[in-house]
Amino acid sequence: LRIALIGYGHVGKAFARLLQAKRASFPFRIVGIHTLRHGTAYNEGGVSVEPQWEVRASTLEEFLARAQPEVVVEITTLNPEDGEPAITHIRTAFARQIHVITANKGPIAHAYGSLSDEARRRQVEFRFESTVMDGTPIFSNVRNNLPGVKVLGFRGVLNSTSKVVLAGMQRGLSIEDGIREAQAMGVAEADPWYDIDGWDSAAKAAALANVLMDARTTPQTVERKGLRDIDPAEPARLAGAGKVIQLVSSGECVDGSVRLRVRPEILDQHDLLAIVKGTSNALLLHTDLMGTIATVSIDPGVEQTAYGLFSDLVDIAKSV
Ligand SMILES: NC(=O)c1ccc[n+]([C@@H]2O[C@H](COP(=O)([O-])OP(=O)(O)OC[C@H]3O[C@@H](n4cnc5c(N)ncnc54)[C@H](OP(=O)(O)O)[C@@H]3O)[C@@H](O)[C@H]2O)c1
Repeated sequence: LRIALIGYGHVGKAFARLLQAKRASFPFRIVGIHTLRHGTAYNEGGVSVEPQWEVRASTLEEFLARAQPEVVVEITTLNPEDGEPAITHIRTAFARQIHVITANKGPIAHAYGSLSDEARRRQVEFRFESTVMDGTPIFSNVRNNLPGVKVLGFRGVLNSTSKVVLAGMQRGLSIEDGIREAQAMGVAEADPWYDIDGWDSAAKAAALANVLMDARTTPQTVERKGLRDIDPAEPARLAGAGKVIQLVSSGECVDGSVRLRVRPEILDQHDLLAIVKGTSNALLLHTDLMGTIATVSIDPGVEQTAYGLFSDLVDIAKSV
C-alpha cells in the first residue's frame, strides 16, 4: 500500500520506524510526507526515516496529486478549539478517494459524524484508534468484537498529565511542580493547562461519545471542571483515608441524549480507575449485552500510538 503522512513529529517518526521494522511481513511504503515547516518529501521507493526534504508543496492537493497515496495518515498538531486544519486535510483526502487514518483527536471530537458520513459516501475507510488511549484497542474492539452491543456509557481516566500532577500533589508537590514532572516525562500537551483544565479529557470524552454512542457532540458541550480548584492539601489528606482523586471523563445516556462530564472525583484507592499508576490509563465501557468491560493500558508511549496507526493500516489493507 502507498502511504502518505501529513505531519512528521514524534508520532510520525515512531510510525515510520515501526513500518521499517515490520517491512518484511507488511508491504507498506511511505511515498510522501508533508509537514508545516520542514517541507515535503517524496520517494517512490519509500521515504527514509530521515527524509530528504524538498520545498514544501504549496497546497495539500498538490502534495497528494504528486504522491498518489492510497492511504493518508493525518498526524498534525492537535487544535482543541475546532479540530482544524486536520478536518480539512481529511476531507481533502476523502475527495480524492483516499482512505484516512488519524491519531489526531480534534477531528473525531469535533466532526466525527460528518466525516464518517463522507467516508461512507466516498466508499473509503476512516480509522482513528490512536485518538483515545494511545493505540490500545477501544474502537476496533467494539467494532470487531462486540457485534450488536450498545454502549450505554463510560467512565475513564484518560489524561496522563493530570494523573502525574495529582500523584505529585499527594506527595506535597504544587500543580506547577507536577506539571514540570509530567513535562520531564514527555506526556504533557504543548500547553499543559489544556490537560489540567480538562480540555484533553473533554476531547476524549467527546470522541468516545461520537464514535461509540452516536452523540454528534463537541468538547465544548462537556460539563468540565479541571484541577485548578483542588485544595493543594486535599490529595495528601485523602490518601490518609484510603481515597484518591482522579480526573474522570464520563458519559451516560440521559433522556435520549448523551451527557458528558469531566471532573475530579474522589475514588476509593481500590477502585479500578484509581489503582492504575503512573501515566497508565483505564476505561470502563457500560454496555447492554456485555455488562461493563474494562480496558487498561500500562504506561503507554509514542510507540503504542504508532502501533494504533499500524493496526488501523493493517485493517484497511484487508479491505482494499
Ligand atoms: N505524542 C503522542 O504520544 C500522541 C498520542 C496520541 C495522539 N497524538 C496525536 O498525534 C498527533 C501528532 O502528535 P505529535 O506528538 O507527533 O506532534 P508533533 O511532534 O508536534 O508533530 C506535529 C507535526 O505536524 C506537522 N504539522 C502541523 N501543522 C501542519 C499543517 N498544517 N500541515 C502539515 N503538517 C503540519 C508539523 O510540521 P513541522 O515538523 O514542520 O512543524 C509536525 O511534523 C497530534 O494530533 C497528537 O494529539 C499524539
